[in-house]
Amino acid sequence: MADFAQQYGPYAVVAGGAQGIGAAYAQYIAARGVNLVLLDNAGDALEQFSAALRKQHSVKCIAIELDLGSENLLQVLSNAVGSLEVGLLVYNAGLADVGPFFKKETGLDFELKKIAVNVSGVFLLTHYFAKRMLARRRGGIVLMSSGAGLIGSPYYAHYSATKAYNIALGQALWAEFKPYNVDVLAVAAGMTLSTASAGFEHIEDRSQFQTPEALVEEAMQALGKQPLLVAGEQHRKNHELSRQLPPEQLIELMAQHAIENFLQQAPEQALDGD
Ligand SMILES: NC(=O)c1ccc[n+]([C@@H]2O[C@H](COP(=O)([O-])OP(=O)(O)OC[C@H]3O[C@@H](n4cnc5c(N)ncnc54)[C@H](OP(=O)(O)O)[C@@H]3O)[C@@H](O)[C@H]2O)c1
Repeated sequence: MADFAQQYGPYAVVAGGAQGIGAAYAQYIAARGVNLVLLDNAGDALEQFSAALRKQHSVKCIAIELDLGSENLLQVLSNAVGSLEVGLLVYNAGLADVGPFFKKETGLDFELKKIAVNVSGVFLLTHYFAKRMLARRRGGIVLMSSGAGLIGSPYYAHYSATKAYNIALGQALWAEFKPYNVDVLAVAAGMTLSTASAGFEHIEDRSQFQTPEALVEEAMQALGKQPLLVAGEQHRKNHELSRQLPPEQLIELMAQHAIENFLQQAPEQALDGD
């Protein structure tokens, strides 16, 4: 516990930390005596969860309601927490969907927002906090990615591309920051029971799901030891098997995954929208 707080304290920032996987990270961190800054757009959940953490773990917990995709993100952050010593950044929030590249329900604005939250926000927070960690010669950064970021995944195409960004950045910085004693880990989650599982009710086989707590336990054990964690035993086994396939076949399998779990049939591209 002391080691964790020494390497990653006195404050940790969890972006998207009020619910689901993000909340499980916050619980893990608070239980080890590290204070928290939780960034989230779910105002009520954020307030309630922060109050519970303060009470349960006697840590400080600063709750900041914001949109991680907003243009003034860094300004808001530096005003609110610029003076704090942040030893751990977990960038958890992500905008996800499944369907054809051109969708009926959403258009260009939604896709640009996906870049803002899944890519720009990750870059901005990593750039901001890592510089201070490197100067102190200690710290940690966890970037949440997805199995869909491990290879171009049809019907998750743009999401998949944003999640590949997190893997590439995490793996590269793992090596660059190692001499500075700053641990970096990218986490490729499989299907995880979280706020996103509102879309998973129809999937009968629950054995392929991981709980947020189990994912966080694995991630925190892997932080400082490896650049990338494929989270979940079954997900890891599938990933190992998939590496033996030619890429064309694996890409088709990812399409199958989207169709079987979420779409019923290969969807048409909606060419009428923006
Ligand atoms: N769950 C899975 O099966 C799964 C699988 C693969 C990868 N992942 C990755 O795991 C991470 C966690 O995903 P999750 O969907 O399971 O979420 P989660 O950890 O259950 O919740 C994320 C939190 O972030 C908040 N948030 C989302 N967009 C935000 C924004 N723009 N600004 C501020 N806060 C924001 C959410 O609030 P609202 O809900 O109110 O927006 C929610 O409170 C994501 O990076 C995702 O890509 C998840």
